[in-house]
Amino acid sequence: MAYWPAFKRDQKPGLFMARDILVTSALPYANGSIHLGHMLEHIQTDIWVRFQKLRGHNCIAVCADDAHGTPIMLKARDQGITPEALIAGVAIEHQRDFSDFLVDYDNYHSTHSDENRELSEQIYIKLREAGHIASRTISQAYDPEKQMFLPDRFIRGECPNCGSADQYGDACEVCGSTYQPTDLKNAVSVLSGATPVERESEHYFFQLADFEAFLHDWTRSDHLQDTVTRKLDEWFTAGLKDWDISRDAPYFGFKIPGTDDKYFYVWLDAPIGYMASFANLCARRQKEGDNLDFDAFWGADSSAELYHFIGKDIVYFHALFWPAMLEGAGFRTPTAIHAHGFVTVNGEKMSKSRGTFIKARTWLNHMPAEFLRYYFAAKLSHRVEDLDLNFDDFLARINSDLVGKYVNIASRCANFITKRFDGQLAAQLDRPELFDRFATAGDEIAEHFEQRRFGQAVRQIMNLADEANAYVAERAPWQIAKEDGRDVELQEVCSTALNLFRQLTIYLKPILPETAGRAEAFLQVDPLTWADLGTPVTDHAIAKFKPLLRRVEQPAIDKMIEASKEDLAAAAAPAAAEPSTENTNTAAAKQNTPKMESADDNGTIQIDDFAKIDLRVARVVAAEHVEGADKLLRLTLDVGELGQRQVFAGIKSAYDPAALEGRLVALVANLAPRKMRFGVSEGMVLAAGESPHVLSPDDGTQPGEKIK
Ligand code: MSP
Ligand code: ZN
Repeated sequence: MAYWPAFKRDQKPGLFMARDILVTSALPYANGSIHLGHMLEHIQTDIWVRFQKLRGHNCIAVCADDAHGTPIMLKARDQGITPEALIAGVAIEHQRDFSDFLVDYDNYHSTHSDENRELSEQIYIKLREAGHIASRTISQAYDPEKQMFLPDRFIRGECPNCGSADQYGDACEVCGSTYQPTDLKNAVSVLSGATPVERESEHYFFQLADFEAFLHDWTRSDHLQDTVTRKLDEWFTAGLKDWDISRDAPYFGFKIPGTDDKYFYVWLDAPIGYMASFANLCARRQKEGDNLDFDAFWGADSSAELYHFIGKDIVYFHALFWPAMLEGAGFRTPTAIHAHGFVTVNGEKMSKSRGTFIKARTWLNHMPAEFLRYYFAAKLSHRVEDLDLNFDDFLARINSDLVGKYVNIASRCANFITKRFDGQLAAQLDRPELFDRFATAGDEIAEHFEQRRFGQAVRQIMNLADEANAYVAERAPWQIAKEDGRDVELQEVCSTALNLFRQLTIYLKPILPETAGRAEAFLQVDPLTWADLGTPVTDHAIAKFKPLLRRVEQPAIDKMIEASKEDLAAAAAPAAAEPSTENTNTAAAKQNTPKMESADDNGTIQIDDFAKIDLRVARVVAAEHVEGADKLLRLTLDVGELGQRQVFAGIKSAYDPAALEGRLVALVANLAPRKMRFGVSEGMVLAAGESPHVLSPDDGTQPGEKIK
């Protein structure tokens, strides 16, 4: 995919043309902590940006917190603080997490900012003046107790299609059908438990269909990955619908110009936050006497490149609404949208109960940031694929690649230089052709980085590390050192190896900036850039070698997973609860409406959340083995007034089914039924520990009684 004129990519001396590149990551919501899923995106972005900077381009990376919307308003209300206070605290936490992961934004701002208000109003007014905004009265679910309109995710009830209990207002997690919240049976507001009523209100709509021809063309012109274009085709076929961009008070956001009580929907001003963060940076740079020009990057005829790194769940917003908004308001459109998949851990969705829903901070408390950067890099491609963090693989890779291959080159040769040659590298190399070959490999490695094939870049770098180690093994400096009269040879061999190590450091620098910094200190050289690949350091004093990285040990991983479970315990969440780490937009996309405002992802729940769990005493009426399942028992439970339930419980290893019959257990009674291979599981039985032990209410309680 050629996003820019070929000559711009030319790295030959004399022909080099620095590209102006602006890069963004999706703006994380300001109501939760950063976790490893977010980190995949920010690390991917940061590696790409550091690579561009290393190559000498004018690459700028901006991000911000996405601070608006109902969940943030409600969370602040629960905590008894203002939304402004909530987002201010989260902003500090987020930026600390990113910076400790060595993710280096040129600017990190907030969508709740003056710049964003101005730009959002400006874009809205331009779209309105061009006739792209319509208004009409719609009827919506309203919570009469809380006196507010309810986003779809805040309404639950029975699926109109399959009848499953406790489904969201937009889609059923059991049968997958999508519908309007008004279709739900026995709907309740999750905020108050009240039955929602229908209420009318005037809403504003962005008429996406006005941009049908533009978008049709834009989505097919190398701005998107092929799989994304194909996904969008489904939406084109379904027809581009009007997008509801207004919300009624109370809402935390920007008031729509010309209205008293209407606010921009959070997703309207969120992407404009990219521009706002950049505008904020321009103002800051101008104060410092540096002229960074907003229009040069965002004007309709901008020659700069603009890339958005995002997750697959928010493609709809970035590949349709966003380019249409920019086009309609007279700004440039993105050069490309780079979508990535989701993080899984040990082959499964990140899970709070398994301790694999790992927050950025928890990782940092147990493990160097660079190890995650390296592992993600080693597994990242340009495709929209999920990425599995497998801890066995992680441990092996870090220890064998980084410690065993890369650092090993330096640690095997440095001491000879220090002890025998007073720290001085030789005047010439023992094998210059090997050094040259390492430099030439840079073209292909650069192309891999450029195209976001980080995994392939890493593979090639590690092949070179293997070659360097093979060279050291072949020349065996420890042998040469034992023999008299071979000093020159010893110095040249070690100098060659250290120069290869220096080239590998350049290649790894976008991924491991801190280690590269330590290597630069050891080699006593200025910060390395791509241009240093071709010239060796000779006749030059280096410092004494200190270990650059330590190995990963299994206990550190175990502790991190334990701590992630503790995070959960501290939050007093029920053992049975699974996180909704995925902001799935697929169901919403099917019906051509945007993603719902995501619920809190950070592991902390409020007392209201806990109150949503219907915990009941149940008696095991029957327990039996399930054919073909090695962990499960099928339990038939008597839940008193709620009748009988079938639950599949993963407790086969610990119980003889007969011994369970007649026992009282604790049941999560309002868990969405799950279709399993063996039948539908209608709840979850609480258990603790590895074995695991089923938790039993005291005798004397009755099936169906609420556990409080
Ligand atoms: N606030 C919106 C984005 C607005 S951009 C104008 C949002 N926020 S989010 O916090 O839910 O997600 C931020 C980014 O993290 C998204 O790109 C999302 O895809 C990504 N991820 C969130 N969980 C993820 C994983 N488990 N794995 C990989 N990326 C994930 O959406
Ligand atoms: Zn259903």
